[in-house]
Amino acid sequence: MISNKITSGINGNIKIPGDKSISHRSIIIPSISIGISEINNILMSQDVIHTLEAFKSLGVKIVNENNKIIIHGHGLDSLKKSPKNIYLGNSGTSARLLTGLLASQSFNTTIEGDKSLSSRPMNRITKPLELMGASFENSNGTLPLKIIGKKLKSKKLVIEIPSAQIKSGLLLAAINTKGHSTIVEKNITRNHSENMLESFGADIQINKNGDDSIIDINGKKELISKNIDVPSDLSSAAFFIVATLINKGSKISMKNININKTRDGILIALKKMGAKININNKKNVAGEVTADIDVEHSDLNGCELDSRIAKLMIDEYPILSIAAAFANTPSIFRGLGELKVKESDRLDLIRSNLIRCGCECKVINDDLIIKPSRSYKPIKHNIRTDYDHRIAMAFVIMGSKIGNLEIEDSKCINTSFPNFAEIYNKAGGNFKWKL
Ligand code: S3P
Repeated sequence: MISNKITSGINGNIKIPGDKSISHRSIIIPSISIGISEINNILMSQDVIHTLEAFKSLGVKIVNENNKIIIHGHGLDSLKKSPKNIYLGNSGTSARLLTGLLASQSFNTTIEGDKSLSSRPMNRITKPLELMGASFENSNGTLPLKIIGKKLKSKKLVIEIPSAQIKSGLLLAAINTKGHSTIVEKNITRNHSENMLESFGADIQINKNGDDSIIDINGKKELISKNIDVPSDLSSAAFFIVATLINKGSKISMKNININKTRDGILIALKKMGAKININNKKNVAGEVTADIDVEHSDLNGCELDSRIAKLMIDEYPILSIAAAFANTPSIFRGLGELKVKESDRLDLIRSNLIRCGCECKVINDDLIIKPSRSYKPIKHNIRTDYDHRIAMAFVIMGSKIGNLEIEDSKCINTSFPNFAEIYNKAGGNFKWKL
């Protein structure tokens, strides 16, 4: 699809869909709880549908009723062997979280994914699970992975890699393992799993020591079902925030956006760049903080961000880089090594696509340096996405300023934001099917 220049800004009240991370957990945790959970505003994107289909294959009754998902949970030991391999598409979150949960079951499961997911590292979750006694077959560190279900041993585990997916996979294994497990996380990463497990009555305690989280769990305590209202996704909102900031005449409002402190780096970074962003009406529901956000076009300056903030906004660098490309001064974003193992090598795709757009951009070690230009003259008009939804959406927003960008494989946007084009065009965007 082609992203064209826009003429009168991005405006209006924008309804952002449900948070992807919380949507995955809103299927997984109710499926192993006792009782019926009603889930409102769940994101129905391809990634989340893969998690939903996985739990149906594992014998969980899940029905779609009046825009709600109703999950009938029967407890920690209620999952059944899937009659077929479980296909998880592009979803790294499903793969890492399910590996933890399924390693502790009484049956074997094979999980597989698309080309991109099959090249992403699984050792980061299988290695610590092996310390709990888990075993895996045909694994050369990637999918497909045969998970041998067995009783695991409770353990103390230390996670050095900044990854909520690893932490959550281990939490799900520990919840289903008799005895006391301790997970020490050496970095701050999104804490939706801890929040939801706590609100479902898990025996879990979290203590902080600087950036370290020490999570203590007594396993095999049954979880009790609960209804969940999934807040809207800040990662999806970020595309509209940046589109508004960089296009003259723009002003938007968004309601009920998740601004959990472990996820709000993009707001901190953009404010540091001079963005006019107002946050009102904060609410706390089951540990998740939501707010309404108003944004208007702003003159942005570049900024320098260290590796600590990267953990609080790891998914937002593609769109932050577009904001940086329209700032008054250069930016440097440090410590982005984890971007190389996302849905694509995001660090390289940000760099190479910005260069195609005529922007001076370099990667030195794991640091990204962006020197904005006053007038962009694209070298190439096609944007390579490697089927990565966030690269595709970020460069649609780039197209709103420089025009005529062909976003390759733009269908990948369905991974996280199926109605992105519809909402964007209604707000003043110009993203068109190629004729
Ligand atoms: C996620 C964790 C992050 C993030 C991903 C969603 C989650 O991945 O990039 O989009 O829901 O736990 P890592 O754990 O690999 O950092």
